[in-house]
Amino acid sequence: MCSVKSKVTVVGSGNWGSVAAKLIASNTLRLSSFHDEVRMWVFEETLPTGEKLSNVINRQNENVKYLPGIKLGKNVIADPDLEHAVKDANMLVFVTPHQFMEDICKRLAGKVRKDAEAISLIKGMEVKKEGPQMISTHISDSLRINCCVLMGANIANEIAAEKFSEATIGYRKSKEVAEIWVQLFNTPYFMVSAVKDVEGVELCGTLKNVVAIAAGFVDGLEMGNNTKAAIMRVGLREMKAFSKLLFPSVQDNTFFESCGVADVITTCLGGRNRKCAEAFARHGGKKSFDTLEAEMLQGQKLQGVSTAKEVNEVLRHRGWSESFPLFSTVHEICIGRLPPTAIVEYSERTPKFSLIKGSEQHLKN
Ligand SMILES: NC(=O)c1ccc[n+]([C@@H]2O[C@H](COP(=O)([O-])OP(=O)(O)OC[C@H]3O[C@@H](n4cnc5c(N)ncnc54)[C@H](O)[C@@H]3O)[C@@H](O)[C@H]2O)c1
Repeated sequence: MCSVKSKVTVVGSGNWGSVAAKLIASNTLRLSSFHDEVRMWVFEETLPTGEKLSNVINRQNENVKYLPGIKLGKNVIADPDLEHAVKDANMLVFVTPHQFMEDICKRLAGKVRKDAEAISLIKGMEVKKEGPQMISTHISDSLRINCCVLMGANIANEIAAEKFSEATIGYRKSKEVAEIWVQLFNTPYFMVSAVKDVEGVELCGTLKNVVAIAAGFVDGLEMGNNTKAAIMRVGLREMKAFSKLLFPSVQDNTFFESCGVADVITTCLGGRNRKCAEAFARHGGKKSFDTLEAEMLQGQKLQGVSTAKEVNEVLRHRGWSESFPLFSTVHEICIGRLPPTAIVEYSERTPKFSLIKGSEQHLKN
């Protein structure tokens, strides 16, 4: 993989996708082991001006819809043809809202290079009959390639403005491959480190969006900082317990990396999940999340509400709901079964840790 120049394609061009392309493009210009050009697959849209988004990105070197005001680098080429965009790449960066990945993987099956390596920046999971499946596993299984993950305290617009932040890469086997991804993403303002815990890193990135919804409710109810800190602590504890129950290989230390506690903090202070949940609570739960997403996010997608639903399917299926009062309550509020005020009432019930056989250690830690 190192002897010939690597070619990178970014699959996705939303807010974070565009920032990822910018970061990567600054490094492919600098590092001789990569081709300069970074292809970015664009889900084609027609702008109010009547122009195609991909044409405007290529003319202005700027994603005017999802990352306005930021130059991506002249070596970022927008490509609306998915198969064409990935054809020659041996490094594939997946960064779309998770609900589109099933379709994207179906379209790409058998179409990517056999020696390709992938990395997923996607937060979310798929719940199937046979159990939950992480997005990186879905990519690996359907495209038959290895897939790392990159997660962290990364609100895209702040990184676009080159404000310092950190991120964590999770890898399964090859440290060498993880180090190539570190090289590709690392910049003086974006510090990346790698840990051998792909499930732990990915679950942190996924589950923190549920905690952010809870934090948004607290803001909408004007409960103050102590309450929010309590929600963040309980949320982090449930993230750890849930991750370790699903994958006993998950490492405690992962929760102290950027993808863990740091991402919980940043998403509960800023971010779109917190913002929409705050508005939901201010409207007393009477305005749906679908309406708020459409009104407040200009085409960007919410992740926390669908992740809360997916997590709750797992909890119900496995009989774990009572051990995860925060995750359960967030979902019940999102679907209108409980009022937003329930977010600070759930803690009156003591979680029944002992209900889950063999879980005592994970849940008490
Ligand atoms: N934005 C952030 O700050 C941030 C930070 C870290 C991680 N993430 C994660 O990155 C992932 C991508 O988020 P984002 O912020 O780049 O996207 P986004 O929410 O800003 O944009 C939505 C994207 O989905 C595309 N889209 C719409 N319909 C589609 C379809 N049918 N098929 C395929 N694509 C379609 C749109 O063109 C757009 O590119 C998510 O999993 C998100 O949780 C986001």
